[in-house]
Amino acid sequence: MAKGKKVTVIGTGNFGSTVAFILATSGSCHNIILRGRNYDVAKGKALDMSQAANAGRKHSIVRAGKDAESMQDSDIVVITAGAPRTPGMNRDDLLLKNAEIVRGYAREIKEHAPDSIVIVVSNPLDAMTYVVLKETGFPRERVLGMAGILDSARMAHFIYEKLGYGAGQIRATVMGGHGDTMVPLPKFTTIAGVPLDDLLDSEEIGEIVKLTKNGGAQIVNLLGDGSAYYAPAKSTAVMVDAILGDTKQIHSCAVSLQGEYGYENIVSGVPSMIGAGGVEKIIEMTLKPLQKERFKNSVGSVRELIDSLYDLNFFDDEKPSQEK
Ligand code: 2OP
Repeated sequence: MAKGKKVTVIGTGNFGSTVAFILATSGSCHNIILRGRNYDVAKGKALDMSQAANAGRKHSIVRAGKDAESMQDSDIVVITAGAPRTPGMNRDDLLLKNAEIVRGYAREIKEHAPDSIVIVVSNPLDAMTYVVLKETGFPRERVLGMAGILDSARMAHFIYEKLGYGAGQIRATVMGGHGDTMVPLPKFTTIAGVPLDDLLDSEEIGEIVKLTKNGGAQIVNLLGDGSAYYAPAKSTAVMVDAILGDTKQIHSCAVSLQGEYGYENIVSGVPSMIGAGGVEKIIEMTLKPLQKERFKNSVGSVRELIDSLYDLNFFDDEKPSQEK
């Protein structure tokens, strides 16, 4: 357990609650703050989680955060707040509504937790990470979006379902934005070091790519009134643990590109080394022309979202030039 470390989770919905629950019951850190719009609900859930931690012989304490000051001295702040997707809605339909919610919290973080590392999971995730970067003014090392771990986990799940073996040995790679244009990379996917295309044919791999891209929507349609939260929350907890434990592991995360892969001033999912400083290194893989094209397409769709926020005068300043 990371003693003396403090993690604030903003949002007491299914997603935020599950993140806090996983952190508390795995004993990731001692001090967890759960903040939401309804203080009593946050208090009730915080008590329940602290008691769950004790049931598992962990001694994390989850407390409800009443106001912005409760975030003081946080090492990590996770923003899950925002409206979730409902059937028929894609992640981008949430743009302006969630941008306003996320901006409000970003300003509070800047004031009350100025040294924290911020993990953004509100959708549309890459654009919301951009909003947090701009509103906090934090260096890019300290603002990262979650989704690559989730999308890779979904891909690994579908591979495992198809293969029926290789549990825990599947290393799937997905890059790009967390949206319909995400870029699953079967050529960078292995099972105990064996390339995926030695085990499955191209039709089967094509099916896995399709299932991965549709992974979030599939769950939205089944749930009927919200989006997935167990896998997204576990993926977020993996990032929190990488930071608290200074693991320096490589995970696909949404980060601000400043020249990497040929892009500037845009957020997209790329392999990143995560440690105590946040994003300590961005890994540049050598992409084949088709992979480059798909990544460009994905970056372009995030750019469209950010551009529409500029067009709506959401930001105070002018649109920066974004391509190198
Ligand atoms: C998902 O893909 C919530 O965007 C998240 O399920």
